[in-house]
Amino acid sequence: MAYPFGDCGVRVNLIALALKTATDRLANPARASDPDKLRCVVSGKTVLVTGASYGIGEATARRLAAAGATVLLVARSAERLDDLAASINAGGGQAFAYPTDLADEDAVHVLTKQITENHGPLDIVVSNAGKSLRRSLHQQYDRPHDFQRTIDINYLGPIWLLLGLLPAMRENGGGHVVNVSSVGVRVVPGPQWGAYQASKGAFDRWLRSVAPELHADGLDVTSVYFGLVRTRMIEPTPLLGRLPGLSADEAAEAIAKAVIERPRTIEPRWVFPAEIASVLLAGPADRAARLWHRRFFADSTGREDLR
Ligand SMILES: NC(=O)c1ccc[n+]([C@@H]2O[C@H](COP(=O)([O-])OP(=O)(O)OC[C@H]3O[C@@H](n4cnc5c(N)ncnc54)[C@H](OP(=O)(O)O)[C@@H]3O)[C@@H](O)[C@H]2O)c1
Repeated sequence: MAYPFGDCGVRVNLIALALKTATDRLANPARASDPDKLRCVVSGKTVLVTGASYGIGEATARRLAAAGATVLLVARSAERLDDLAASINAGGGQAFAYPTDLADEDAVHVLTKQITENHGPLDIVVSNAGKSLRRSLHQQYDRPHDFQRTIDINYLGPIWLLLGLLPAMRENGGGHVVNVSSVGVRVVPGPQWGAYQASKGAFDRWLRSVAPELHADGLDVTSVYFGLVRTRMIEPTPLLGRLPGLSADEAAEAIAKAVIERPRTIEPRWVFPAEIASVLLAGPADRAARLWHRRFFADSTGREDLR
């Protein structure tokens, strides 16, 4: 590869690469997973992945299937799930598509009954399907459905799913639930993300509260808190595309690590110190959030730009 500034160009490129690696490492969860260990853990096991039609869920389903798991694919886009199942099966893996709207309680009831009948108790559930939303409060006065939609898919849907699947898993005496969550539920909530963060936070709290009950029956619960992952979810906010983030495959690797090690949580290294700081420095943290909002979203009078 020829560099425009000779040796100096090589150095500049190496420094840029090192800086990018360092910021990515700091901003995102530790994600190195061992393929042999993954195969050992999931080979012959049945894993359900929600939100498998795109992004993190699709990459996770491919990775787990390649390691020998039978994957059950859930999302609304039937055609994409069929294509994914066909591509996994053609490569020697085993996948089944279960197109379902997880925001529809009756449909989720039918799904869990069908899955338990067809596959018995599941070994791993990756609860990944979700909907993001960034909108200012003044744009939501006439949009109560913003809150309904986020609470349905980020909170109620995953609960309905687990209510249907957990009895057989607990009876079986083992299993693992992996919750794909956001760092936003762990640190000071940002303006404009309220509907999304509240719904993700609600599920996170519910799952943490039932985890000891599940643990008593041999089930582990892991929450993976992602910073930024470059999927279609972040496309409506171009600013996010310029921040350090993971690819969907890298995110799937963090989920593979969760599946192997079954820790309570996986998160970027900065989250724990930020959590402590957000308690100890609650006042300054709130003031910083207000300044950030004024700097980027307010008009020259300091009020929010309501146009
Ligand atoms: N991207 C990020 O920066 C980021 C950061 C932190 C956390 N996360 C979390 O990561 C998870 C995956 O997000 P992603 O980035 O991979 O986004 P994505 O590419 O938009 O994928 C979202 C998935 O959820 C499915 N889904 C949405 N509504 C559904 C419904 N009503 N019923 C069934 N499935 C539904 C979608 O499938 P259909 O449209 O086919 O139904 C799709 O497969 C989400 O829980 C998100 O909160 C993402």
